[in-house]
Amino acid sequence: MKKGVLILVLFLSGIGALAQDIILRADNIDEVLSALTLKEKASLVVGAGYKSMLAGVFGWKAPVPGAAGMTRPVPRLGIPAIVLSDGPAGVRIEPKRKGAEGTFYCTGFPIGSLLASTWDTSLVERVGQAIGNEALEYGVDILLAPGMNIHRNPLCGRNFEYFSEDPLLSGKTAAAYVRGVQSEGVGTSVKHFAANNQETNRFWNDSQVPEDVLREIYLRNFEIVVKEAGPWTVMASYNRLNGVHTQEDRWLLTDVLRSEWGFRGLVMTDWTGRRDTQAQILAGCDLMEPGEQSQINELVRKVKKAELPEAALDSCVRRVLELVVKTPTFKGHRPSLMPDLEAHAVIAREAAEEGIVLLKNDEGTLPMASGTRVALFGVGSYQLLAGGTGSGHVHRPYVVPLDEGLANEGFQVNETVAGLYKEHIRKNPPKKSFLSGMLGSPASPEMALPHDALEDAADGADMAVLTLCRQAGEGGDRHLEDDFLLSTMEKEMLADICGAFHARGKRVVVVLNVGGVVETASWKALPDGIILAWQPGQEGGNALARILSGRVCPSGRLPVTFPVDYFDLPSSANFPYDYKGRGSMTSGSKRENDVRNVGYTVYEEGLDIGYRYFSREGAPAVSYPFGYGLSYTTFEAGEPEYDGDTVRVTVTNTGLTAGKEVVLIMDPVLRAFGKTRLLGPGESETLFLELYNANNP
Ligand code: BGC
Repeated sequence: MKKGVLILVLFLSGIGALAQDIILRADNIDEVLSALTLKEKASLVVGAGYKSMLAGVFGWKAPVPGAAGMTRPVPRLGIPAIVLSDGPAGVRIEPKRKGAEGTFYCTGFPIGSLLASTWDTSLVERVGQAIGNEALEYGVDILLAPGMNIHRNPLCGRNFEYFSEDPLLSGKTAAAYVRGVQSEGVGTSVKHFAANNQETNRFWNDSQVPEDVLREIYLRNFEIVVKEAGPWTVMASYNRLNGVHTQEDRWLLTDVLRSEWGFRGLVMTDWTGRRDTQAQILAGCDLMEPGEQSQINELVRKVKKAELPEAALDSCVRRVLELVVKTPTFKGHRPSLMPDLEAHAVIAREAAEEGIVLLKNDEGTLPMASGTRVALFGVGSYQLLAGGTGSGHVHRPYVVPLDEGLANEGFQVNETVAGLYKEHIRKNPPKKSFLSGMLGSPASPEMALPHDALEDAADGADMAVLTLCRQAGEGGDRHLEDDFLLSTMEKEMLADICGAFHARGKRVVVVLNVGGVVETASWKALPDGIILAWQPGQEGGNALARILSGRVCPSGRLPVTFPVDYFDLPSSANFPYDYKGRGSMTSGSKRENDVRNVGYTVYEEGLDIGYRYFSREGAPAVSYPFGYGLSYTTFEAGEPEYDGDTVRVTVTNTGLTAGKEVVLIMDPVLRAFGKTRLLGPGESETLFLELYNANNP
């Protein structure tokens, strides 16, 4: 061999040896970092693009069609792409794949507001674990959940994904959810950080919040989840916060989140597309989703021109690598594609049963005696809404409507009324758009009730149940008319049904199948019972029926106040309740930046959110307070005994039915809470509750 050729061969084999040596491991991140080219580094902080996000809609090939996004791989260094998928009420992926046998449905769990209504963090942890397991077994590395913005105003279109008006309940519930998901070796992304409390003009709206209010209400829940559960990632929000886009806010992402709270994970953007790339890196936002090639080019250019220090980019890349090495994909997990959906459906049902809230029950209207003949009214009875729309939509295998649930529980459902509603739904199916396969569709419209049918039903049935439903979702806020308030048709239905049934000495129960708070004060005197079912997930009809029958004793309590009047809420002075613009995934525009409540929203109410305001002296009365909920039994709680940061409370079931009780320690804000196990009549349990101490969390 000639000398030159020999040298070349030796040189090439040297490169081979080098490349082989440097393959990403959990303990060689520094080495990998120094082996990456600038372009590779830039590519690691920019998501894999719209193609990965839209693969489900267009049937393109992708590791997990329907996942929201991916990162980019660097194969020569053993860095795989990882898969990010939405929640929170289950894993959002496409249920069918081109050319694949079988289906890929995910369990539809109850919405966030219902989970918070359980006040049972160990149950929420079980829900999280089941969701994490489905993510794992379908090939997802990071679940983009939980959503945990504060319910500042009932009209926020995404409140259903979120937990509560109270930061402690929100933070503790989120922490349980995160622990559950991450116990399966899958990451979470707690979102949307921060003060993302309206959907109107969501890409541009500037939340103007004084720092003390921000810390006490809108950041506190994130602080709790970060400190107690260590989420692998945090998702910045779409909105601006005090003038700065959160994904570009160094104070928020580095000073507060990392330096003050000790967050060790990765921060990603929401699905914003292109913003100020350089500002994001400098702020400590590590991953831009869904990601565009132009962002990579810009980063390379800026570092080369020394406009962006490479060290700042390196910090973000390091956090991407630290995340990657934790994922199932990196660890070589082979998804079975067969999670135990049957077992998870049971958990979904149990969660719904624990979070459904009994708001009214006059003279023992409920539970219904066995064999009761029920006339079921309202489209929602036959087309129960399991959850909301948008990225929080879950492709679940089925939804049990209330008629089916009641039949499963042995009740007779009036067939004539059922026939009328089913025919109406057949003729008025939910409106579909090209994205509804991905993001869900709005419900069918309500049906006016034929007078004769109502009279016949009142003769033939023993009891009436009327379901009122509300659907909302990402990209738009709810409205006052026909949404927060009942529509004229609904009011007439309620009055007519109560008129017909009460005239015959028969009872009426209203079921609220809603994602957020609705007005109740003006009509709650009419029916004999009211049940807040929220959007209870795929097993909703079964869960409701088991509560109606008394097989399950209701133990849900409100995580949010139900005001008498929308305008009693201090935040209503600064919320776009009368915005007439478009509500869609891309709602809003920069052009509206000067429009109050659209371009910017002043959090003038300060700390006066929910019960913090309504429990003040002189504040207006509420329809149902925070923490409210009835049971089929009665409880007595002993005096709380304080021992340092621990409170002991003994709860006794003083009634005749087994049930669970929730204990709230308010001082004057929520400091601790807990739920008993199922206590039989006469049984007691002593709860030991840890007081939350904001100065020493
Ligand atoms: C939503 C996020 C979601 C993301 C990915 C965004 O539009 O705001 O909550 O995780 O899309 O689907």
